[in-house]
Amino acid sequence: MKFFIDTANLAQIKEANDLGILDGVTTNPSLMAKEGIKGNDAILNHYKTICEMVDGDISAEVLSVTFDEMVAEGKILAAIHPNIVVKVPMIKDGIKAIKWFTDNGIKTNCTLVFSAGQAILAAKAGATYLSPFIGRLDDTGYDGVELIAQIANIFTIQGFQTEILAASIRNPLHIIKCAEAGADVCTCPLDSILGLLKHPLTDIGLAKFLEDAKKM
Ligand code: E4P
Repeated sequence: MKFFIDTANLAQIKEANDLGILDGVTTNPSLMAKEGIKGNDAILNHYKTICEMVDGDISAEVLSVTFDEMVAEGKILAAIHPNIVVKVPMIKDGIKAIKWFTDNGIKTNCTLVFSAGQAILAAKAGATYLSPFIGRLDDTGYDGVELIAQIANIFTIQGFQTEILAASIRNPLHIIKCAEAGADVCTCPLDSILGLLKHPLTDIGLAKFLEDAKKM
């Protein structure tokens, strides 16, 4: 399973990248706004900086909702760097735009996926990735990880090539459960990635080894 970091924060991207386990980055308008990135030039420059930091797929989301505008915007985003993946919302024009990008050799990430039916449509359009939002589903009383398992099963049966990118991850357990359910990628906040490191027995064991090492 690939690991992406889900942030536009450069310090956090650097910290995850320095671990040596990072395969890519996802952003969205909310994450960009949180970092105070404003205006077209600043947005494009920020994506360029991320592409120069991380050798992997970098999702950059379109801000329009009509086919023509999404295609125009996606072309500009894709021209920033070969690793840019154009992130497109799961709407009717979004599916048309994903098909257009696929036919024109531009990678896509279909975002805001909340059902297996939506996943099938994105795969049919040839999306490179599709992003089911695990945490937001959990928030509504539905099991987000179940959706990952359902989509993974359908894609195996049908031979769809689209990669399942588990998004809206809230904790380390989500990452483990998504790995078990067949996600190809997990995009995670830094805290959730670092949370995988934690076990009290590791800390106790290391303290004891270091103490005993003094007697060696
Ligand atoms: C990433 O591609 C998604 O936009 C992101 O994971 C959404 O996460 P949230 O539900 O925590 O906002």
